[in-house]
Amino acid sequence: MADTVVGANPDPHASGEDPNRRDFIHIAAGAAAVGAVAGLAWPFIDQMNPSGDTLALASIEVDLNKVSPGQQITLKWRGKPLFVRNRTAAEIEAAVRDDNAALRDPQRDEDRHKPGKAEWMILVGTCTHLGCVPTFGGGDYNGWFCPCHGSHYDTSGRIRKGPAPTNLEVPEYAFLSDTTVKVG
Ligand code: FES
Repeated sequence: MADTVVGANPDPHASGEDPNRRDFIHIAAGAAAVGAVAGLAWPFIDQMNPSGDTLALASIEVDLNKVSPGQQITLKWRGKPLFVRNRTAAEIEAAVRDDNAALRDPQRDEDRHKPGKAEWMILVGTCTHLGCVPTFGGGDYNGWFCPCHGSHYDTSGRIRKGPAPTNLEVPEYAFLSDTTVKVG
């Protein structure tokens, strides 16, 4: 089943000088630019309009070729945003370095991705406080930041500061090949 790519969250290191690092990509034909307000409004373009039953059971296959290092796409999955991030070496290094930090919801980085696939961080994109959609690149830990009440997640999606009680959820997923992941 084809996935519907709707936007990408900001990368703090992106600048206009390096087009490969831009924080916004357009992949799906007709996808609209929503990045600037993605943290709050989450205006998905839903072309499929599946029924509720279908949504509840749905799994999606994601073509990882669409996601360059340092980029993230946001998909719709079971009615929620799904982040698929291709982490840079620096992001991975920062996450591993903090494995032994004082974590509210202790979890090692390697337990939040598939073995040998540290670059791929796949997360349900809803803040574990009250369900807003965090954006990447903000906050004190250079990971995801939820602007609703100020929850800071690190580059592993672990909660580090603010009211959220737990880490961003890692959904059930599996690699079908090096470039395809099935979520759900
Ligand atoms: Fe994210 Fe409250 S919903 S901090």
